[in-house]
Amino acid sequence: METAVLHFLFCFFTIICWCSGNMVQAIQSPNYTLILSESDFQIRLYNESTWISARVSGTSFDQSYKLGFQSRLYQYIHGANSDSSKIAFTAPALTSVPWSSSSSGDYTVRMFIPSGFEGKPPVPNPELKLRIEKWKSECIAVRKFSGYAKDDNINKEMEALVTALNKQSVTIQDTNSYIIANYNASSHNTTQRLNEVWINVSGLTTHC
Ligand SMILES: *[C@@H]1O[C@H](CO)[C@@H](O)[C@H](O)[C@H]1NC(C)=O
Ligand SMILES: *[C@@H]1O[C@H](CO)[C@@H](O)[C@H](O)[C@H]1NC(C)=O
Ligand SMILES: *[C@@H]1O[C@H](CO)[C@@H](O)[C@H](O)[C@H]1NC(C)=O
Ligand SMILES: *[C@@H]1O[C@H](CO)[C@@H](O)[C@H](O)[C@H]1NC(C)=O
Ligand SMILES: *[C@@H]1O[C@H](CO)[C@@H](O)[C@H](O)[C@H]1NC(C)=O
Repeated sequence: METAVLHFLFCFFTIICWCSGNMVQAIQSPNYTLILSESDFQIRLYNESTWISARVSGTSFDQSYKLGFQSRLYQYIHGANSDSSKIAFTAPALTSVPWSSSSSGDYTVRMFIPSGFEGKPPVPNPELKLRIEKWKSECIAVRKFSGYAKDDNINKEMEALVTALNKQSVTIQDTNSYIIANYNASSHNTTQRLNEVWINVSGLTTHC
């Protein structure tokens, strides 16, 4: 009898641990279809998606990402919202960067809202000044890079992507800003860190 109870408890906790372990690993990301894959860039057709966004009047990418993500979006997903609900961490975090690095402009930092809210995530507490954004389906050119995304390397990565797109006569749609996508927390080890530059594009196939 006692053995049976112990056995039951053992199985029960094993299942709980296994499930929560898997949940920790299953970080959600927006879904896309691969339209084109070249050695130095990809074109992805992203599905409709919902984002929580923080506009920052920043002076640099580094500063804006910290202000937007670490202080505002972080609080939202940790319960500073109308339901006091915790929202699972997702990837990537997106930061829109004005094309011209010399001009200080508006940066926008966004986090993907995971599935399960049917497009209606909890309302952010007003003092956080966050906005819920719906994105239509969108064609995005993507270039991957490793290490840390920083003020001193993002421009170079963006220029490399623009050069690759010009070679293939892909039309750049968004003329105000490009996006830096961060996949890893800043505490993650520099090996195998993933970042991407994103640029909205059009005129490629019937999809874009
Ligand atoms: C995109 O979303 C639609 C409707 O929500 C869904 O039917 C479709 O499977 C999704 N496509 C991908 C690639 O996830
Ligand atoms: C992505 O698509 C898969 C399969 O269609 C679906 O199960 C999953 O919920 C989708 N993820 C998001 C974030 O929409
Ligand atoms: C890219 O496309 C999305 C969806 O249409 C739009 O909301 C966004 O402003 C565009 N540009 C950037 C830099 O995100
Ligand atoms: C990164 O992690 C690997 C494996 O955990 C370790 O061997 C390596 O020394 C770490 N590198 C740095 C820069 O911390
Ligand atoms: C960074 O994120 C990518 C994509 O989710 C993942 O494959 C990689 O293992 C992560 N790197 C680290 C150091 O956690």
